[in-house]
Amino acid sequence: MKVTVVGAGAVGASCAEYIAIKNFASEVVLLDIKEGYAEGKAMDLMQTASLNGFDTKLTGSTSDYSKTANSDIAVITSGIPRKPGMTREELIGINAGIVKSVATSLVEHSPNVILIVVSNPMDTMTYLTHKVTGLPKHRIIGMGGALDSARFKYRLAQALEAPISDVDGMVIGGHSDKGMVPLTRLATRNSVPVSEFISEERLNQVKEDTKVGGATLTKLLGTSAWYAPGAAVSGLVQAIACDQKKIYPCSTLLDGEYGLNDLCIGVPVVLGRNGIEKIVEIDLSEAEKTHLKESAEGVQKTNGLLEI
Ligand code: 2OP
Repeated sequence: MKVTVVGAGAVGASCAEYIAIKNFASEVVLLDIKEGYAEGKAMDLMQTASLNGFDTKLTGSTSDYSKTANSDIAVITSGIPRKPGMTREELIGINAGIVKSVATSLVEHSPNVILIVVSNPMDTMTYLTHKVTGLPKHRIIGMGGALDSARFKYRLAQALEAPISDVDGMVIGGHSDKGMVPLTRLATRNSVPVSEFISEERLNQVKEDTKVGGATLTKLLGTSAWYAPGAAVSGLVQAIACDQKKIYPCSTLLDGEYGLNDLCIGVPVVLGRNGIEKIVEIDLSEAEKTHLKESAEGVQKTNGLLEI
């Protein structure tokens, strides 16, 4: 199993590190445009192998896509991250050009690759990747919901004063401060609805804190986060590589599902060796349907800024 990670910045490197530590891939290629940077990160990570106990072979490359040839899975993290006070949507101008050229080069060298898009604004970059590569829709996956759901579970566990392992919950919709739809109604603490334990007001606070999860970290760190994004990507890569058939909310091209068409947005999907093996349509309440529709309108608006 060969995995390529494009972009050796904080998110790409942490993603490569988690994939290596989980020890399910034979090879990870890290690629960056900054001379020697990916090589350095890969070497540093390889020197943790005997300490962390993994056999994954990590190599780095400066812009040489021939090194990525025949990748099974490739992750696109390239582009600029947001700074404090910026929205993800504001990155579209620079990141669209970068994602377009990265996606094209990846597919040129790995025609059977499954692409995972992380660059922001992620739903729009996932849609752009469809337009420029023409790959079948099950082979293009946007990573947002897995991260947002992890942040949701963190906030829920805090509110419930419960261990995170006892908490389950999912965030669908667009990967943006306004567009996320945390499904509080379906969140549980060991199978019991969370509303049995905390007030509606507290639950609404959890929802709001989840939606600005990325912005809160950007303010604290001065740039966007990397540990949870990297871990979320590694989860998706593992689900595909190990054919786990796990359900994650991911951005996928919709064709009538949830009443939506011709956009990529986060909905629950089954991930296995073929990429997105099924889109799971759950019964949403009227309020949740309205939020998802509004979220889709926001994504469509950003998509409208693309010059394809
Ligand atoms: C975040 O929310 C990187 O978009 C990513 O942290």
